[in-house]
Amino acid sequence: RDWLLHQASAASQLLLSQTVPLEDMRQALEMRTSVQKPAPRALALVGFMGAGKSALGQTIVAHSKRWKQFYDTDAEIERCMGMSIPELFAEKGEPFFRNLEREVLAEGLLRANTVVVCGGGVVLDDINRQRLAEHATSVWVCTQLETAVERAADGSRPLLDPHNGSPNKEKTPLERAQQIWQARRHLYAQTADLVVRNEGRSLEEMAMVIDDETEASFH
Ligand code: S3P
Repeated sequence: RDWLLHQASAASQLLLSQTVPLEDMRQALEMRTSVQKPAPRALALVGFMGAGKSALGQTIVAHSKRWKQFYDTDAEIERCMGMSIPELFAEKGEPFFRNLEREVLAEGLLRANTVVVCGGGVVLDDINRQRLAEHATSVWVCTQLETAVERAADGSRPLLDPHNGSPNKEKTPLERAQQIWQARRHLYAQTADLVVRNEGRSLEEMAMVIDDETEASFH
């Protein structure tokens, strides 16, 4: 087990350009191996804002014979509430958003043959992580933080918005992203069954890899 953990640590340096501490890896492994996975019905894409989860999810659905439905937690929330995510954060606050996100995720995970694209903060919640472990095969979609911030710099991510949140007023979007990444990376690691790097490869190539790798989890 330690031998594998050391390999994973070296792999995280190659994959994420950052070493995930061995202790985080150990915790993740313990959590993954303690959960029985009877019949996962969903393919969940988790990862940081701007990692490209939605575009990848749509490509998987377009090319896969197994994963035929697309479900995006943010899009569902926007549809239910009739407002955009930034409007929702501004009007109702983050805790309201997180409660709704938990309900919406639970609903998506019950659907058969479905790719569930998860908002970047889904992994913060213990219940969400537990549900993902039970009902889905989870793929962590990774990209360089700088690339993610560039992609997410269209005002659609309230947590990166310099006009949002007084304690972080002085921070740039990249500094905010670094802070959020530090607080979450071990949670992505705990949740993921598979990690893919969304850089240097086409969406179609990644979709094929994911489709192949998740064949065994399809029921
Ligand atoms: C969030 C990520 C966003 C969206 C919301 C909060 C987060 O989703 O759910 O702005 O906490 O990381 P994407 O990951 O699709 O950008």
